[in-house]
Amino acid sequence: MTSPRLVRRTTALAGIIALAIASAPPALAAASDASSPPVIAAYSLAAPRSEVPSGLVARAVVPGGTHCPALRVALSADRPDHVMQMTVRPTPARTAPAFDAITVCTAPLPVGATAASISGVVVPAAMPTSVDRLALLGDSGCRITSWQVQDCASAEAWPLALIAQSVADERPDAVIFNGDFFYREAACPAASQAMCGSSPPPIAGLPFTDSAYGWIADALLPMAPMLAAAPLIVTRGNHEACYRGGNGFFLLFDPRKGTPDTCAPVSTATGLVAADTLPTPTYAIDVAVRDGRTLRLAIVDSAGGNDNSVTSFAAIQRPAYVRAADLAQARSGRETWLVTHRPLYGFVTTAFAQAGQPFNPWGSMDQAAAADGLLGDYDLVFSSHMHIAQSVQLPGLPGQLILGNAGTLLDPPTGYPLPTAGPQISATPGYPAPTWGWVGVRFGYAMASPQTDRGSWRITMKDPDGETFARCGLAQRTIYCRDRA
Ligand SMILES: [Fe+2]
Ligand SMILES: [Fe+2]
Repeated sequence: MTSPRLVRRTTALAGIIALAIASAPPALAAASDASSPPVIAAYSLAAPRSEVPSGLVARAVVPGGTHCPALRVALSADRPDHVMQMTVRPTPARTAPAFDAITVCTAPLPVGATAASISGVVVPAAMPTSVDRLALLGDSGCRITSWQVQDCASAEAWPLALIAQSVADERPDAVIFNGDFFYREAACPAASQAMCGSSPPPIAGLPFTDSAYGWIADALLPMAPMLAAAPLIVTRGNHEACYRGGNGFFLLFDPRKGTPDTCAPVSTATGLVAADTLPTPTYAIDVAVRDGRTLRLAIVDSAGGNDNSVTSFAAIQRPAYVRAADLAQARSGRETWLVTHRPLYGFVTTAFAQAGQPFNPWGSMDQAAAADGLLGDYDLVFSSHMHIAQSVQLPGLPGQLILGNAGTLLDPPTGYPLPTAGPQISATPGYPAPTWGWVGVRFGYAMASPQTDRGSWRITMKDPDGETFARCGLAQRTIYCRDRA
């Protein structure tokens, strides 16, 4: 006999899907084909052009067990719409029943698309031909662990939905989301029901913490306006490690073919265990910028590794940066940002010091060690991971921008003196001492716009309501930020 508690929970979770479907823009939802499945979420992901000539794939999330809808594409005003059948993106092996509530569908956008929709829901149709407004953000989920709970019921305490709407209102040409989508890693504690009582818990007995309902609550539903606004360029954060939200990430947000099983649990004599979290291959996304410039984004998977000290993982990670350096080789008209979740040189608050241990102000030591000596051709390193906004300059190296403030619980507000030495990675010469740093501990996102000179950008930091709180300039590989006067 089904317990009343299980019935209540199942009803509540099914309500999340109903809410997600009802949240589709009314004008678009009304246009849905009656024979098409209702769409829970739809969006477009930037993909390597070696796989997808247009550089963009469409995704649709529909209720589990329903068929994939068609992708309707306009190619020009004088030609009839092109209708393509979307195909199922396979659910990662050995994850049932975590993702049984959804079917994820995918289709490449054809070259030359001018508009696209799925069951009447509009999705971005093409990569931009000239970027003027690039949205930047990362670290967005509502944190629920056994030791810390965020108020997921409050738009002020967990402002992802506000941020996503503000990003959409900016009318960006593209959005870079730099990892750490998923934070619902535990059932909401009994004492915190007012803050997270409706949160979908991890599925008992599986060696990871995400699920279809978890992703709907933590990302697909609150991000909906942003997903409709522009192509999404994504990286994988450590919250998408295989023992956390990796299976959902590779099912929903990794743009590449053949990756859904990357985090599929491994069968052992004692049962299922989480797959190892290893770097997936580095790839590049090129976006066209004004005046014939091209911005190359070298996407490095830094989901794994240790933050506090250099470990043997640095050698496992290093090939990802070797490949990125190849992709970043200087070419006329092209500038390059390294886009990777964990910062290579970002400094943390002294509030993180642990009694009896020497304080290391630098985060992501494995990444710093893995990338050492391979950063010569970048104009910027863009990361998130630290739940703050920060920019750091080390002499002779590209500026480091950090934006990990898109909704998940912020790091402590004070205690950020500029470190007196660079990251100590036990290599020669290693990293020099920083010459400059800026920190803003508040929620938000940033908008980047190219300026006249090659490699120069204006980057504006904004709060969840879209109000500017700091302004930055990037020129000649150097970043400088200041609080809004
Ligand atoms: Fe994070
Ligand atoms: Fe992170």
